[in-house]
Amino acid sequence: MMNKPFHAILAFVLVIPLCLICSLTVRAQGPQVVIPVPAEYQLAEGQYVFQGEPAVQVKMVSRKKVPYEGYRLEVTRKGIVITASSKEGAFYAMQTLAQMVAGAPESESGTEAAIACCVINDYPRFPYRGLHVDVSRHFRSVDFLKKQMDAMAMFKMNRMHIHLTDAAGWRMQIDAYPRLTEFAAWRPQRTWKEWWAGDRHYCEAAEPGAYGGYYTKEQLKELVEYAHERHIEIIPEIEMPGHSEEVLAAYPELSCAGKPYSQGEFCPGNEETFRFLETVLDEVMVVFPSEYIHIGGDEANKTHWKTCPKCQQRMLEEGLADVDELQSYMIKRMARYVESKGRKVIGWDEILDGGLAEGAAVMSWRGTEGGIKAMDMGHDVIMTPGRYCYLDHAQDAPFKEPESIGGYLPLDSTYVYEPLEASMPADKAHHLKGVQANLWSEYVVTDEHAEYMYWPRAIALAETGWSQAEDKNLQDFRGRVAIALEMLRSKGYETFDLANEYGERKLAQTGLEHKAKGCKVIYNKPIQEWYQAAGEVTFTDGVIGGWTYSDNRWQGFLSDIDVTIDLGEVQQVNYVGGTFMQLIGPGVFMPRKVDILVSEDGEEFELITTVWNDVHVTAEELLFKDFSTICDKQVRYVRYHAYRSTMRGFLFLDEIVVN
Ligand code: ACM
Ligand code: ZN
Repeated sequence: MMNKPFHAILAFVLVIPLCLICSLTVRAQGPQVVIPVPAEYQLAEGQYVFQGEPAVQVKMVSRKKVPYEGYRLEVTRKGIVITASSKEGAFYAMQTLAQMVAGAPESESGTEAAIACCVINDYPRFPYRGLHVDVSRHFRSVDFLKKQMDAMAMFKMNRMHIHLTDAAGWRMQIDAYPRLTEFAAWRPQRTWKEWWAGDRHYCEAAEPGAYGGYYTKEQLKELVEYAHERHIEIIPEIEMPGHSEEVLAAYPELSCAGKPYSQGEFCPGNEETFRFLETVLDEVMVVFPSEYIHIGGDEANKTHWKTCPKCQQRMLEEGLADVDELQSYMIKRMARYVESKGRKVIGWDEILDGGLAEGAAVMSWRGTEGGIKAMDMGHDVIMTPGRYCYLDHAQDAPFKEPESIGGYLPLDSTYVYEPLEASMPADKAHHLKGVQANLWSEYVVTDEHAEYMYWPRAIALAETGWSQAEDKNLQDFRGRVAIALEMLRSKGYETFDLANEYGERKLAQTGLEHKAKGCKVIYNKPIQEWYQAAGEVTFTDGVIGGWTYSDNRWQGFLSDIDVTIDLGEVQQVNYVGGTFMQLIGPGVFMPRKVDILVSEDGEEFELITTVWNDVHVTAEELLFKDFSTICDKQVRYVRYHAYRSTMRGFLFLDEIVVN
C-alpha cells in the first residue's frame, strides 16, 4: 500500500504530463529526443503503446539509491516504472516521459502514441538551473511568468530570478511604502526606450496613459505556489545600492542630495536607508520563501557618496578607506540582516568590490573572473557571463531580428558555454552551483517578444545546467531542440525559428585571403586598452568581424585609427578597403572620413583617395560600410587613416584588405 504523501506525488506528477500526452500529434521516439540529455540511457527492443490510462508506477527509494532530483525511468512493453528519491526526481521523470511522448511515433497499428522501450538513469550536474526575468524595464503579466515556468519545468530548470526593481519601475506591493506602487511603478511612456530618451520621470498610477504596474502580494503568493508545484524556486531581486532611481523619486530623503531625480544610489550614510531596505526585505521574505534573496549590487555610481556628509561620516565612523568599502559595508550589513532571518543573500559580482559578505553567493555576469574569485574565497557562485548567458543580445543576424540592445548571441554560442573553467581551483569546484540565462528587457517591450528571446536559448542553458559536460553535443542538441521548439509552438509559445536562422556574417565564417594577409602593421596611433582583438595582427590576419564588436575580431578605438601596412616588397595594388560598423546605442560610429595613401619607400606617401562617410549618425540599426577604393599602383606601403566621428564614440575596424 502506498502511504499518503506518496499518493500525492503520484497524483501530482501524473496530472501535468498526461494532458500533454493526450493532446499530441505523434511522431518519433525514445530518450534520444530528451532535453537535457540524460546522464545514461539504453534503448531496448519493442515499444510501449499508450492505450487508455498509461500504466505509470512510481517507486520512492532512499537518496543512497537515486540522487536528489534524479530518477530512473524504465519503459517496457507492459508499462512504465519511475524510481526516485524525491518529489523533484519523480517530477523530472515525468517531464522526460512527456518529451518522449511529444516526439513519439504512432504505434505500429498507427493510432496511438508509442515510445521506445528503454532504461534511463538521470540526475543533474548542478543544483541551480536558472532563468531571469526583468519585469522592471517592461512589466510582465502573471500569466506570462506562469507560462515561462511551465516551459522551465519541461527542461528541468528550477530557479526563476525575478528582477523586481530598477530605475524603470518598482514592481512589488510594499505595504510600508505605498508610494513605490502608487508612483514609482508608473511612467508616462510605454517603452523603456522612449522613457530613457525622455526625462526619465515617473507618474501617478491614476494618470491617463500611465504605463507600468506591479504585483500584489496575493499575485506573488500565487506565483510562488505555482512555481513550487513545478519545483521552481522564485528568487526575488531588490536592487541596492544602485539602479534605484525609482525609489529615490518616491522617497528622495533616502538619497544623498535629498532630492528626487538626483541619483540612482541609496545614501548608505543615512540610517533611514537601512530602515527602508530592512522593512522592504521583511515584506519580501514573507512572500518569497526562497533560500536566496537577491540584493543586486551591480553598477552603482558611487560619486555622490564622495561628497555626501552623511556618507563621509559613515566612512569615518566605520573606518572605511573608500567608497567601494562603503558599498561593501552596506551589502554586508544587509547580508547580516537577511541571514538573521534565516536566509542567504546573492548579488551580482560587484558585491566582491571592497570585500564580500560572509556567506553571500555571487552571480558572475561581467565575465567569469568574479565568480572564480568568489569560489576561491569559498563562496557559492552562479555563472551567468554576458558573453554566453545574456539573452538580450540578438540571436541571429541583426538585420532580420527585432531591435535589441546589440551584440550577437546565437543558440550555438549559448550552448557551447562550459561553466567549469580550468582555472577554477579543483577543491573549490563544488562552489559552482549552476548557471542562469538572463533576459534584460530594455528593448523587449511585449511578453511575446520576451518569449521569443528565451526559447530556444534558455533550453541550451538548461542542458548545460543539468547534463554532464561530456554528454553534450551541439549537432545532436540542434536536432533535439528542433523537436522541443515544435512542441513549444504547439502549446502556444512564441519561439525563434531555427529553421530560418541566417547565422554569422558570411565572411566571418570563412575568413578572407588577400595581399596584405600576414603583413606587418605599423600603428601610427597606438592600439587602445579596450577591444584589442588579436592585437597588432588584427587588421591583416584574414579574420573578419562578426555581427558584434565584442567578438574579439574588431579592434576598437576612441581616437582616429592610423596604420601603415608593409606589404614586404613593391607590388601591384588594385584595391584597398576596410569595413566599419555603426551602432549608436553603445556609441559606435562610422569614421568621418578615411584617407588612403600609398608609398613605394615608406617615406613619401601619395593620397589616392579620401572616402567620406555618408551614413547618418541617427540611423538606429546596426550598419556596416566599406571605406574602400580601387586603384592601379606599384607600391610597398599602404596607409589607412580613419578619422574619428564628430559624434566621438568608438571606431571599430576588423581588417584592411589589399588586393
Ligand atoms: C547586470 O547586467 N547589470 C547585472
Ligand atoms: Zn550619502
